[in-house]
Amino acid sequence: MGVLRVGIVGAGMAAGYHVVCLRRVYGVAVEIAGVTSLRAESRQTFGAARGIPVYASLEAMLDHVDVVDICTPPACHLEGIRLAARAGKHLIVEKPLTGYFGRDDAFRGDRAPKAPMLEAVLEALRDIAALVAASGATFGYAENFVYAPAVQRERELVERTGAQILRMLGEESHNGSHAPVYGIWRHAGGGSLIGKGCHPLGALLYLKRREGIARDGHPIRPVAVSARTHALTRLPGYQDRGYLRTDYTDVEDTGWMHVIFADGTVGDVVTGEVTLGGIYDYVEVFANNHRARCRLSPTNLLDLYNPGDPRFDDLYLMEKLSTHAGWNAAAPDEHWTMGYQEEIQDFLTCAADGRQAQSDLALALDTTAVIYAAYLSAERTGAEVDVPLVQ
Ligand SMILES: NC(=O)c1ccc[n+]([C@@H]2O[C@H](COP(=O)([O-])OP(=O)(O)OC[C@H]3O[C@@H](n4cnc5c(N)ncnc54)[C@H](O)[C@@H]3O)[C@@H](O)[C@H]2O)c1
Repeated sequence: MGVLRVGIVGAGMAAGYHVVCLRRVYGVAVEIAGVTSLRAESRQTFGAARGIPVYASLEAMLDHVDVVDICTPPACHLEGIRLAARAGKHLIVEKPLTGYFGRDDAFRGDRAPKAPMLEAVLEALRDIAALVAASGATFGYAENFVYAPAVQRERELVERTGAQILRMLGEESHNGSHAPVYGIWRHAGGGSLIGKGCHPLGALLYLKRREGIARDGHPIRPVAVSARTHALTRLPGYQDRGYLRTDYTDVEDTGWMHVIFADGTVGDVVTGEVTLGGIYDYVEVFANNHRARCRLSPTNLLDLYNPGDPRFDDLYLMEKLSTHAGWNAAAPDEHWTMGYQEEIQDFLTCAADGRQAQSDLALALDTTAVIYAAYLSAERTGAEVDVPLVQ
């Protein structure tokens, strides 16, 4: 296998850390052969700062790359997947895989009926599954929780001890996304459940898949979900002190999902935008032979005290940390502890070897189906909803 040429779509935050991780890949020759994004200015600035050739569109970039790495807002994922899969390119797709984004600018997700939303999403998922299968290329679903070292260690412990996972608890929460389109359903496909909940949900679904495959070759998959969503920062009585992002238009800022698996075991996901103190990510596993707490952030690897020296203000210490004064759980290397590095390493290795990624399309399809079944459940104030599986 020669050099794998990667073309990045999107020139924002995710694209930035993908470049860092792509440049650390070992054992596979990788060239970042292009970047494109919606605005000429953003792609030019991004490409010039990193020495990456710039293209005006994905169509213009396609002939120059082997792998298409989609780092655009969720509403653009499907279009990019279609173009790349039809051209037979390997794909890396940022979370969430896709979603429901309405049909016009007047769309309000919180008021839209969720049953037709779920149906439309399932149709899109079937479309993606067929396109990727026909392309014969590899597919990496960029769910970094799967690749976090703590989660990978737990996966190994489950597989090697034949553990049965009885219940799990996972969370991603922080004080609000940086992305300008976050908080608008027609761009993001929903709020906390999809924007953040997809992460711990992906890890929970992954661990049960691996448990089943280790036992008898078949993944244990989700069959039903109950969910609640709330818009706490839009409550009439909310008292804004300026520490939390509050400009959500039609999405929830807090959510719960209770997932039931085919073997009757369960997983709970908590997620929200009202959490101060930096990004809060963990997965807990309660098995029949062990218990595990997987920390992604904070990891407690480094406790840093700053008495107030302003020279700390411009340093990166941890995602979504609003102050650098006092005690902080500064992250030594988030690319590693959050799983970003191993995620990109696995995807490039799989593209080179033709293997299936740990975080693959099957996981992405199940995650998306659970989330939109959860929105239907939340509309019914928590009533259990069957998860319609795509494959
Ligand atoms: N795994 C993680 O922890 C994580 C973290 C952040 C973002 N993400 C995901 O990455 C994706 C991008 O998020 P972000 O935070 O980088 O957003 P961002 O707003 O920082 O950047 C988005 C980029 O996409 C470009 N873009 C928008 N529409 C486009 C189109 N139609 N065609 C081409 N380019 C287009 C924008 O110009 C911008 O450069 C999202 O799906 C998000 O959910 C994942």
